[in-house]
Amino acid sequence: DWTMDSFIETTVDNISSQIKDKKAVCGLSGGVDSAVAALLVHKAIGENLTCIFVDHGLLRHNEAEEVMEAFEGKLGLKVIKVDAKEHFLSKLEGVTDPERKRKIIGNEFIHIFEKEAAKYGQGEFLVQGTLYPDIVESGTKTATTIKTHHNVGGLPEDMFFTLCEPLKELFKDEVREVGKKLGLAEHLVNRQPFPGPGMAIRVMGEVNDEKLSLLRKADAIVREEIKAYDKENKVWQYFAVLPGSYSVGVMGDDRTYQQVVAVRAVGSEDGMTASWSHLPYEVLDRISQRIVNEVDGVNRVVYDITSKPPGTIEWE
Ligand code: XMP
Repeated sequence: DWTMDSFIETTVDNISSQIKDKKAVCGLSGGVDSAVAALLVHKAIGENLTCIFVDHGLLRHNEAEEVMEAFEGKLGLKVIKVDAKEHFLSKLEGVTDPERKRKIIGNEFIHIFEKEAAKYGQGEFLVQGTLYPDIVESGTKTATTIKTHHNVGGLPEDMFFTLCEPLKELFKDEVREVGKKLGLAEHLVNRQPFPGPGMAIRVMGEVNDEKLSLLRKADAIVREEIKAYDKENKVWQYFAVLPGSYSVGVMGDDRTYQQVVAVRAVGSEDGMTASWSHLPYEVLDRISQRIVNEVDGVNRVVYDITSKPPGTIEWE
């Protein structure tokens, strides 16, 4: 419709006159906000935009590949992928407390992003997918520069970025509309929320490669089956959790002692409250059978029937 078309036109014009022939960097997370912000800026300044995608190794099955394929491959953006998997895993070694995990991941993420941004953006513009509700919620969000304190070879010790926030007057559903118009694939436009700390808060206790790999396989099955069932996107968020408990089972003539996987699926408006989804037994049955058959090391599947409150959506 014309409102979105004219929004795109005006916004691209404004970005062009703000950034001119300078450079900009944008952090891509795979989420719709940063994606749409990047697409608008790319339309305005083309090659002068560098997107940075930090792969912390806590993403879902194939997610990093899909992000690269969509943005670099299909949409033609310049994307630098930083493979920081080992780095994050080593920082998370021995860490079991959920809030400490969040803090470590958040800090390392910013640190790595800033280091990369300093290389490509030459300290000029930083694109962010801030939405109108983000600004309203945080009250007086007046900061226009972000200061970094990392001494990156050859660059001044303190760098300043000017923020470019092309979505700051939009609501989420409007962002999705703009995304569609700009050619963003349906699965990225309607992507369910995924937490910044990723799988690290879905593996209870210490995070390691083995647990992540097991959870990724189980999670891919959960997502595949619920997606096939939930044609109208009624389920708001769904995923697998690795509680870290073991249980006894039987396989043929043998006794097994393996991990339990929990399935979480909720309906919600905004994540503040949520109710567990009354998925059909057939869907749950398929998920359970597939996980036990296809994921080595799992012999039991349970379904989380807790709403929020009193539960939270995530387990950590
Ligand atoms: P909870 O578990 O608090 O989750 O009921 C509510 C919504 O927020 C997401 N969530 C996070 N998102 N960083 C994020 O970016 C986080 O640390 C985080 N913790 C929870 C969660 O996935 C759900 O959509």
